[in-house]
Amino acid sequence: MSHVFYRRPAFPHPRAVRGEGVYLWDAEGRRYIDASGGAIVVNVGHGVREIARAMGEQAAQVAYVHATLFTTEALEAYSEELARRVPLADPRFYYLTSGSEGIEAAIKFARQVQVARGAPSRYLIISRWGSYHGATLGALAVTGKPKMRALYAPMFRDQPHIPPPYCYRCPFGATYPACDLACARALETEILRHGPDQVAAFLAEPVGGATMGAVVPPEGYWPLVREICDRYGLLLIADEVMTGFGRTGRWFGMEHFGVEPDGMVMGKGATGGYFPLSILAVRGSDVEAIQRAHGEFVHGGTFSHHAVGAAAALATLRYIEAHDLVRAAAEKGAYLGRRLREVLSDLPWVGDIRGIGMMWAVEFVADRRTKEPFPPGRHFAQAICDRAFERGVLLYPGHGGVDGVRGDHLMVAPPLVVTEAQIDEIVEVLRTAVVEVGSGH
Ligand SMILES: Cc1ncc(COP(=O)(O)O)c(C=O)c1O
Repeated sequence: MSHVFYRRPAFPHPRAVRGEGVYLWDAEGRRYIDASGGAIVVNVGHGVREIARAMGEQAAQVAYVHATLFTTEALEAYSEELARRVPLADPRFYYLTSGSEGIEAAIKFARQVQVARGAPSRYLIISRWGSYHGATLGALAVTGKPKMRALYAPMFRDQPHIPPPYCYRCPFGATYPACDLACARALETEILRHGPDQVAAFLAEPVGGATMGAVVPPEGYWPLVREICDRYGLLLIADEVMTGFGRTGRWFGMEHFGVEPDGMVMGKGATGGYFPLSILAVRGSDVEAIQRAHGEFVHGGTFSHHAVGAAAALATLRYIEAHDLVRAAAEKGAYLGRRLREVLSDLPWVGDIRGIGMMWAVEFVADRRTKEPFPPGRHFAQAICDRAFERGVLLYPGHGGVDGVRGDHLMVAPPLVVTEAQIDEIVEVLRTAVVEVGSGH
């Protein structure tokens, strides 16, 4: 009997004892290929000594100081390095400890900026169905995943959502480019429905992540969204928690679309899982507007601006650069996408294979022609991931992407250090697991 409150009570939870590169080992000596870096976190791979060392040294020097009183060398050095990487002019970084917290900070910041700009009636944050922004109540209110929201919906103040740019199952029943980007134009309709003077920001993932699985918006989507935000005075906030730090083959997902957001939230790959760190990045001019109006951002957090987190992030960033991992994500990610298509496309349960960089998803269907999803009770994607787990490959399942309840996909997003041989092994095991589950063996 363990006193741990487990995430999946019915799952055996073997003890992880070691990690190196794409591999993990459990206490029984079993080896796993971590083909999703947990929840698409471990961009740099497991067991990176430089990162562990930097964290240890920082902790030994000074682990914690209160962020209202001190800064640290690690925090300053990292912020300077990061500023050169983010697609934001004159950025400022506010450090927290989870993606959800970063989102909470972003939506509060958007509200405070609008008030500081003299628009105190603006408070709504428009987001998208089929999104994931986190599990805390404020982040859930903007998340577009009904399965995670339903139980707690009476407890949060909901926010408006628009349909996602999901071409495989276009919410408007249209086809690109004849659709005229109805999914982006829906933002304008939603703004006008509430009144522009009520809306503070639009928040979305550059590439749809956990809820829908690596959904890349069609060309023209993001520039049109940017234009609409500008027309109505909204801040555009990019949730780069999953797409940041090389995952998509660029430093940040938004760079694929030639659009500069007003704010970004980052997490996961910032430290590759070595420290729970998230980052809100905003424009210096907005921080100054808040300072002029209110003195400071009305927010906080005991562990904000953590010195060990900054040391971990700095060592992670240097590792990404030293090993050219952004380019690796683009090049080996293209190989991963090609292999997924070559090896899985003939299977009758595979509806769509999509992705960008080293961020790929496979969506499963009961009928390829009609795109009918499996009944949710069959837990199709979860069953495949469990089979792959038994065979030593870790994948990230998702469900509810079709309409909030139905829909099965899984994500394949290994550490960016993965080799082509390892990709081949991942894809072969995935095929075996899909065949086993699909044919009911
Ligand atoms: C795009 C995105 N935003 C926010 C979050 C929430 O991050 P966290 O789980 O660290 O709170 C996630 C987590 O999966 C995410 O993928």
